Amino acid sequence: MIMELGYQNHYHPYRSILVTLFLVPFFFNYFTHASSSSMYPEWNPIKPRHSRLLRSALHRETPTSQLSELWSPLENQGWKPCVESRKPTLPEKSEGYIQVFLDGGLNQQRMGICDAVAVAKILNATLVIPYLELNPVWKDSSSFMDIFDVDHFIDVLKDDISIVKELPEEYSWSTREYYSIAIRETRIKAAPVHATAHWYLENVLPVLQSYGLAAISPFSHRLSFDNVPVEIQHLRSKVNFEALIFVPHIRTLGDALISRLRYPQGSAEEIGSNYLQEVTDAGDSKKPVKFVVLHLRFDKDMAAHSACDFGGGKAEKLALAKYRQVIWQGRLLNSQFTDEELRSQGRCPMTPEEIGLLLAALGFDNSTRLYLASHKVYGGEARISTLRQLFPLMEDKKSLTLPLERSPIKGKASLLAAVDYYVGMHSDIFISASPGNMHNAMVGHRTYLNLKTIRPNMQLMGQLFLNKAIEWREFQQAVIEGHQNRQGQLRLRKPKQSIYTYPAPDCMCQA
Ligand SMILES: *[C@@H]1O[C@H](CO)[C@@H](O)[C@H](O)[C@H]1NC(C)=O
Ligand SMILES: *[C@@H]1O[C@H](CO)[C@@H](O)[C@H](O)[C@H]1NC(C)=O
Repeated sequence: MIMELGYQNHYHPYRSILVTLFLVPFFFNYFTHASSSSMYPEWNPIKPRHSRLLRSALHRETPTSQLSELWSPLENQGWKPCVESRKPTLPEKSEGYIQVFLDGGLNQQRMGICDAVAVAKILNATLVIPYLELNPVWKDSSSFMDIFDVDHFIDVLKDDISIVKELPEEYSWSTREYYSIAIRETRIKAAPVHATAHWYLENVLPVLQSYGLAAISPFSHRLSFDNVPVEIQHLRSKVNFEALIFVPHIRTLGDALISRLRYPQGSAEEIGSNYLQEVTDAGDSKKPVKFVVLHLRFDKDMAAHSACDFGGGKAEKLALAKYRQVIWQGRLLNSQFTDEELRSQGRCPMTPEEIGLLLAALGFDNSTRLYLASHKVYGGEARISTLRQLFPLMEDKKSLTLPLERSPIKGKASLLAAVDYYVGMHSDIFISASPGNMHNAMVGHRTYLNLKTIRPNMQLMGQLFLNKAIEWREFQQAVIEGHQNRQGQLRLRKPKQSIYTYPAPDCMCQA
């Protein structure tokens, strides 16, 4: 099961240092090398855990032939996107309004939106633009319209279903607050996980017909992936891959990041001048550089939840154990296993050092441009420094932008994630250091467009890292072999699997 774990809203002293540095343009290119590990007793000391491997990795040299294979795009695999039903039809009359309230982070809400469109279609209902709940951990109050281009959404789906931005006046009583204070007849509270289309016709249609409205909450994962009519599957895919695009300012910022990755420039002043101009001008003269997006999910929640040992010593162990106690009160199954058991089962998220070794073993050399898609890394810069040693050209949202450019998304977890999603979709290669909702969403979307995505073999990596005596060559060989078939080769969806992770065959046709 994939847990949607929260990002901790922790006070990081490091953060305030970054902010200060950013105000001084001179430091723009150098801030990342600030070493500050001594300030954090909780994480101190974070030494490389695999120093033997690291020593060899730092001197790695990759043959050109291997490099060109690594960076080459995927070949045509014989499948193409396929989401248009033969003749989309709007129902003659709407049965009423469907409202949903969506939990989770950006990617879980994205799936909820796709399912909401599908359910509205099944019921011949009009969909009200979904309400995004405030996540207790991410604490981002951005609405659908703050994240997604709502007019594009409505327009792309206009022949499939009716969508309204708000309920009409006569139903304006049906709000999030109305449902939170009492039991209401118009609320559907008992939708089972992975409910069938039939369940909705049986249980929600009567409510719609009686009241003209039904509000479904909770709604996450409430529509089955199996035994759903093919038009409905197509529609879900169409929402996910065609109708949901981010608001213009997210796309513009994303384009600026992509352009700066593809056409590296010198100083902060150059970057800061006018990024719209830069996006249009780039590429006239220079050859674009390829880049990898690394989604590094290594926050405190995840570290604590995994119950693995990350080499931060006694202080870190205690801090994570305490955190586990506070949040999960001893209910975590993982805590029953030893670190070794968890590792050999592939249940430990890779640290930045470990994902760096994986990338190095695959052949990515020290000239690789790596974009770090990540919100907060437990251990801060001290934890990332080994990865940075392996990949000195590593960048992220902060290193590539000025504070002013970032201000519209500052502190907004969903918008920050949206920018990373956008950049991730435009990368030559995408890789995640741990499976999760973002990983699954990207795997699905990139499969749809036949883009290269490396899926780490967590179990293999766990076992390799347990072997403290392993030599670099042996490690490298095992990593390469273990990832040969994990670089974007199309896998067909099996029963119960998500169509948002495995879009073929439901959303794709054989070309
Ligand atoms: C990259 O690696 C090569 C070969 O090991 C080395 O000579 C070079 O100095 C490295 N470059 C950087 C920027 O670290
Ligand atoms: C929805 O509309 C279609 C065509 O207008 C009709 O065939 C179907 O029975 C309707 N379904 C429901 C649940 O009203």
